[in-house]
Amino acid sequence: MTSGHPIVIRRAEPADAEAIHQTFLGPRVIAGTLQLPYPSLEMWRKRIAEVPANDYMLVATIAGEVIGSLGLHAASKSPRRRHVGALGMSVRDDRQRRGAGSALLRAAIELADGWLNYQRLELSVYTDNLAAMHLYRKFGFAIEGTCRAYAFRDGGYVDAYQMARLHPALKMDEVVADE
Ligand SMILES: CC(C)(COP(=O)(O)OP(=O)(O)OC[C@H]1O[C@@H](n2cnc3c(N)ncnc32)[C@H](O)[C@@H]1OP(=O)(O)O)[C@@H](O)C(=O)NCCC(=O)NCCS
Repeated sequence: MTSGHPIVIRRAEPADAEAIHQTFLGPRVIAGTLQLPYPSLEMWRKRIAEVPANDYMLVATIAGEVIGSLGLHAASKSPRRRHVGALGMSVRDDRQRRGAGSALLRAAIELADGWLNYQRLELSVYTDNLAAMHLYRKFGFAIEGTCRAYAFRDGGYVDAYQMARLHPALKMDEVVADE
């Protein structure tokens, strides 16, 4: 529940560093991302202060409290992949399942489709992360492949799916190579 308060999405500001750091203390968030236990507050301060101009870090807030974040950036520096964006996101363990993940992803997709002209959005998700997969599928992402032993997590390797979503207006015959 959001206690009647709407979820508000806005750009992260330097003053959000502590709240974002707090998000990455949660075991579920650590397990679902590439973050490590005992995250450094200083690292988050620096990361938020130095977000490159064309990258976006969005936060979800309820009643002014930051409860999740999403990063959206160009997937590659190559001009030939200028049309591709990559994203990652997290909602604080004790604030999940209240719609913040959906609100963050909806905002990122509107930004990507309507303003940044990303035609393809990419992400990686561990194959056992049912919550994230449900969310991504809901917003049109599809599994394109499996990366085996993608990351080390809590004493063992974990596979990840590569997922992507194409802009709804993108005609596939423009991007599929001659066969
Ligand atoms: C994935 C994550 C961002 C979703 O955020 P959230 O705020 O819980 O998302 P929402 O509340 O908007 O829920 C989105 C949908 O997923 C579903 N969902 C959420 N948690 C779920 C769970 N544990 N199991 C199954 N479905 C789940 C919701 O029911 C909802 O479905 P609906 O819209 O069809 O009803 C959040 O679980 C998270 O931060 N996990 C840890 C970090 C992580 O895994 N990040 C993603 C890395 S790829």
